Amino acid sequence: MQDRNLILIGFMGSGKTSVGLKLSYRLKMAVEDTDKLIERREGRSIRDIFASDGESYFRRKETQLLRELTKKKQSTRIYSVGGGTPVNPENRPLLKQLGTVIWLRIRPETVYARLEGDVTRPLLQCEDPLGRIRELMDERREAYAACADITVDVDGLEMEKILGRIERELRLEK
Ligand code: S3P
Repeated sequence: MQDRNLILIGFMGSGKTSVGLKLSYRLKMAVEDTDKLIERREGRSIRDIFASDGESYFRRKETQLLRELTKKKQSTRIYSVGGGTPVNPENRPLLKQLGTVIWLRIRPETVYARLEGDVTRPLLQCEDPLGRIRELMDERREAYAACADITVDVDGLEMEKILGRIERELRLEK
């Protein structure tokens, strides 16, 4: 159990949700995924939200939720957030306020290989997904770096190694 929340950030496909789940067993902390919280509230999938109301509507919901979470008084937990959450400068201090931010850093080629055929990420439904991933990653790198307290390079690493690195960094932080 940590005395602060842990926030997992990183590009789509970097493993935030699965690392969050595994980490929650290891550290005995509840885990929540902000995309899932938004989907539950809205009663529809991210894909449907983007299709009916557009990205900016989704981004407003993201910021609104982050604000609420920073005000919540509850036992510490792990949050995995959407890949685009750190992009809005308004969200960055909210993420930092919410807890210790862990960036799962990944290379575009790894994302492409992992998400080939995925239809749930509206931003990657295009002619040239790899090009789009590269472009978005270039745009976002600084935003991720600006939020991160801990950075873990996940390319080619098994889950156990990723968890081990996160735990080591958390001990060093103390
Ligand atoms: C997005 C990432 C998605 C989801 C939405 C937008 C992004 O979450 O929030 O499709 O802008 O990178 P994951 O990172 O969990 O795929």
